[in-house]
Amino acid sequence: MQADTIVYMKSVPRLYSTFLPKQYDLRLTINRKNRTFDGYVTITGTKPHHDPIMLHAKNLIIHEAKIDDTVVATSPTEFDVLKINGEIAIGEHTLSISYSGYITDTMHGLYPCYYEDEGEKKELLMTQFESHHAREVFPCIDEPEAKATFSLTIETEQNQQILSNMPVEHRKHSVDTTTVRFETTPRMSTYLLAFVIGDLHRVSATSSRGVEVSIYATASHPKKSLAFSLDIATRAIDFFEDYFNVPYPLKKSDHVAVPDFSAGAMENWGLITYRERALLVDENTAQTTKELVASVICHELSHQWFGNLVTMKWWDDLWLNESFANMMEYVALDALEPSWNIWQLFAAHETTIALSRDHISGVQPVRVHVHHPDEITSLFDPAIVYAKGSRLLRMVQSYVGEDTFRKGLHDYFTTHAYSNTTSSDLWRSLEKFTDKDIGKIMSPWLTQSGFPVVEVHTTDDGYRLKQQRLIVGGHDETQLWPVPLAPAQSDFPPMLDTRTVAFPAAHTMPYLNKGNVSHFVASYDNHALQLVMGSLDDGQFTTLDRIALLYESSLLARSGHIPPAHIVELLTHYKTETEEPVWSIIASVISDLRRYVELSDAEKDLRVFIQDLALPLFGSLGTHDKCTDTDATKKLRAVVARLLLYAQYRPLIDDLLTHITAATLRTLSGDMRLVVYTAVAMYGTRSEFSLLLHLHNETTDPHIRIDAADALTTTQDPDHIAILLLQLTNKELVKPQDIMRWFVGFLRNPVAKQDAWHWMVQNWDYITRIFAGDKLYDAFPRYSASQLNTRQSYEAYRAFFDSKITDVALRRVIEIGRRELDFRSKRIEAEAPQVITALHNTTIPGR
Ligand code: BES
Ligand code: ZN
Repeated sequence: MQADTIVYMKSVPRLYSTFLPKQYDLRLTINRKNRTFDGYVTITGTKPHHDPIMLHAKNLIIHEAKIDDTVVATSPTEFDVLKINGEIAIGEHTLSISYSGYITDTMHGLYPCYYEDEGEKKELLMTQFESHHAREVFPCIDEPEAKATFSLTIETEQNQQILSNMPVEHRKHSVDTTTVRFETTPRMSTYLLAFVIGDLHRVSATSSRGVEVSIYATASHPKKSLAFSLDIATRAIDFFEDYFNVPYPLKKSDHVAVPDFSAGAMENWGLITYRERALLVDENTAQTTKELVASVICHELSHQWFGNLVTMKWWDDLWLNESFANMMEYVALDALEPSWNIWQLFAAHETTIALSRDHISGVQPVRVHVHHPDEITSLFDPAIVYAKGSRLLRMVQSYVGEDTFRKGLHDYFTTHAYSNTTSSDLWRSLEKFTDKDIGKIMSPWLTQSGFPVVEVHTTDDGYRLKQQRLIVGGHDETQLWPVPLAPAQSDFPPMLDTRTVAFPAAHTMPYLNKGNVSHFVASYDNHALQLVMGSLDDGQFTTLDRIALLYESSLLARSGHIPPAHIVELLTHYKTETEEPVWSIIASVISDLRRYVELSDAEKDLRVFIQDLALPLFGSLGTHDKCTDTDATKKLRAVVARLLLYAQYRPLIDDLLTHITAATLRTLSGDMRLVVYTAVAMYGTRSEFSLLLHLHNETTDPHIRIDAADALTTTQDPDHIAILLLQLTNKELVKPQDIMRWFVGFLRNPVAKQDAWHWMVQNWDYITRIFAGDKLYDAFPRYSASQLNTRQSYEAYRAFFDSKITDVALRRVIEIGRRELDFRSKRIEAEAPQVITALHNTTIPGR
């Protein structure tokens, strides 16, 4: 614990106060073969006071530094800071520095990507600067507030495409080099600067206002796989221009699919980079994947306004970037593809991720202080700054109304364009168009961890509501939130901002969160619950409400507030369910129940239960896609079929395993591809398994590769598990960017869980070498805590991770993980007998 305290006292120094850069002129000469580059940067700006100028520089070799043509000495200090020595007057100066740096396999700074095109091994070079990696490529004030304009010139080998944020201003070829100078950028933050060098092909279109939109990929992917993204990206730019009523500020918008990428995608202004599977779509691509690709494009495009045009002052307001972009994915897609009913995905996906992490004590709030540079990467918690933040914004949007929301955003973008903001700037803009005190209402939601459970108690003449924090294993009565309610009945109050409120009501159905827009969970007493269940059974609940009721109940069970055995009974009320988002929640609730019976005799009762629940629907869907199916039906069939695979439903398995050949595996299409692959991995012969493994190792199609990986991790054969785990550290077969996916897949597989854990322990040095400093690093302690179940696992978790708690990048995740695993393992031990009895005794009416 003491080590923590010491680190915390040394907060990261902020350098913007020492020098205000205005313009960077950056020239880089790339030596790909030697894995080095030479740089020359001139920075003009203002020195505001007498303290020495400090710049960020990491792993750079400084050759010479000058201030206004006078050579000055530099000295590196801790936290990647380069101190410029010498007496320098207050006022405007030009700093020029010549230096060299390294191209390394870290997936940040300037790094190579590896791929094969027609059997030939090739490379791209690219940059990834968010959150604080620009300093690995040039000395700069690497803080979001230090906005400046950038003129970039790159010299590299011949015959390469060179892309950057801006269009090319000038290109020069010599015998064996190409030199490209790009137009000067608008005023922007260092983390958004980017370039990509390599052999890329593209498709292009223009937006309504004439912005040139291009999708790029390496030649190992056919051009036709770029068309879907081009259509979405072009329409999304039009949509955002209209929704924000602010034009896209650049002339072009490039989107590049790259072979090695740590994040999913990155919003560099004018040059968005993506994992290949987040951008490429062909005629075989599953609907689920198309939705993902479209969401990623909309997310990154919304950042061109949220984040790029207007940027948070400091990383503590990262939510202004990520929560917004996460919400705007759904706002945009609902307009671009209304038939996808994308808000249902929001409820089934974002909301559940948010609630499930946020009920563990120790989790950070959406808005959080940043003390140390290594903490910045760990801020990008998908459950909090993405999922919870977006849900809070959805709550604001519904609370003030769409029209006010849009006007407020327009004001925010126009007032703060090319500049920086804090949370209160956003509230101020919204408040110009409403009487509501948005800042006062939202502040407790952003600065406090957790969320309330609202208990509904029946009184003689109505109801009494009480809020407290929902927390694993207990209640916390110190926190309070202003909770907007969306009750089904008008005699309920619209807001609960005190601990309790009682009111007369005609004992009407007390459902509290119609449309699922407010961030809380409801817990009903017996009488209230009967009325709620009556409405559910009568078919009066919308899809969003059915999702919420089931998920919230499962959360109450997980956190110790209701017995998990109750969930078995609740599921029987979903026997006539036909909507895919609800079935995906049913599947996730069932996989939670599975923890109680895993690898025991009682598992067969769970399997029977699943078959009873799912077969009536599956019978009407059939195993194979039909041309009359809607996109939603195709997704539904796949979700239900995967459940039935777990349930060992033999007719389905036999059906899926007929005619498995290398060719059929390669040409399967749609959402059922993953299901067939899973059937092969779980129940196929060894030779069928080999076909799938071979396909994974050979294919250049990113979707086939990831489906094969997801499926392979479900194998039930210990020999296969051992072979696959060995493969994880072979970069030729499993790219580092995909290791996490494999690891999580194995952790979810009861037969492979322990082996996956041991693999992580044994390979921790390798993991640290590849992922330290990366946002994937803390996913190892995070996912292992969420998937392990037993007391032994808890002991093993502590024995391994306790000593790593001094690492600021892991500290919080380990603390949360210990608590989560401690509670869950005890709860499973205590509740398993009741869950087993319930599974044994519950029959599904009508079957
Ligand atoms: N800005 C992030 C990418 C990022 C995050 C870079 C953290 C460096 C550190 C980007 O906008 C993003 O949010 N990407 C997501 C995918 C998105 C569609 C949810 C990601 O990488 O997971
Ligand atoms: Zn983002």
